[in-house]
Amino acid sequence: MEVLGIDVGGTGIKVNIVDIESGQPIGEKFKIKTPTPATPEAIIECLLTAVENFNWKEKKIGIGFPAVIKNGISLTASNIDPAFINYNIDEEFSKALDCDVKVVNDADAAGIAEMTYGKGKGVNGLVLFLTLGTGIGSALFHNGTLLPNTELGHLKYKKSVFEKYASNSAREFHHLSWKKWAKELDVYLNHLNLLLSPDLILIGGGVSKNFDLYKQYLNVNVKVEMAALQNDAGIIGAAMAAV
Ligand code: BGC
Repeated sequence: MEVLGIDVGGTGIKVNIVDIESGQPIGEKFKIKTPTPATPEAIIECLLTAVENFNWKEKKIGIGFPAVIKNGISLTASNIDPAFINYNIDEEFSKALDCDVKVVNDADAAGIAEMTYGKGKGVNGLVLFLTLGTGIGSALFHNGTLLPNTELGHLKYKKSVFEKYASNSAREFHHLSWKKWAKELDVYLNHLNLLLSPDLILIGGGVSKNFDLYKQYLNVNVKVEMAALQNDAGIIGAAMAAV
């Protein structure tokens, strides 16, 4: 079965057709910038362009979206327009795209893909999957079962929240060296370890491919690994969530 998977991030939107049985993206990945402001109308415009690009006539579309999503409603908006707070996202997107659209949190989507096809495959106990990109997303699994919408990037830190210090955009914005940025990441991982005692932490998102540049600065008493699926995880997981 083929499903169109869409990963909406704070900076970019990535789209591809995913073969659900193999978990493989099978088309040519389509990328478009996340509009600013990222209002529902502007995002829908981008989604329509993506659907047109793939000439998508099938009914199913899965979308990973950077917000808490409960019962088809988006409830938060940290890196997108506040118009998404309490927005009937499944219904509005389905209407606009004339498809059966299912939206889930973007980190949850990427985590589901990583647990099925990547480093989390077959791992029992507590697995914490983090995406370090524009924001910080989290997906927590116990014996393979997801606890959705954990939002662990929003734990309080200094004058704000951890996502303002340990995300990839924080590293870029403050022009931090890998070493300096990794110090913040290390504080974050130690804090999460103290709260949750995970068995494994998987790092995904924009900086996962650079893991070798900062792993030596991490000093946390838990196994920390780079995610395997990297940038395609969000697309694959979004498609999986739709079925
Ligand atoms: C949002 C999360 C999202 C994460 C990664 C955060 O700012 O609150 O819902 O998963 O960014 O995109």
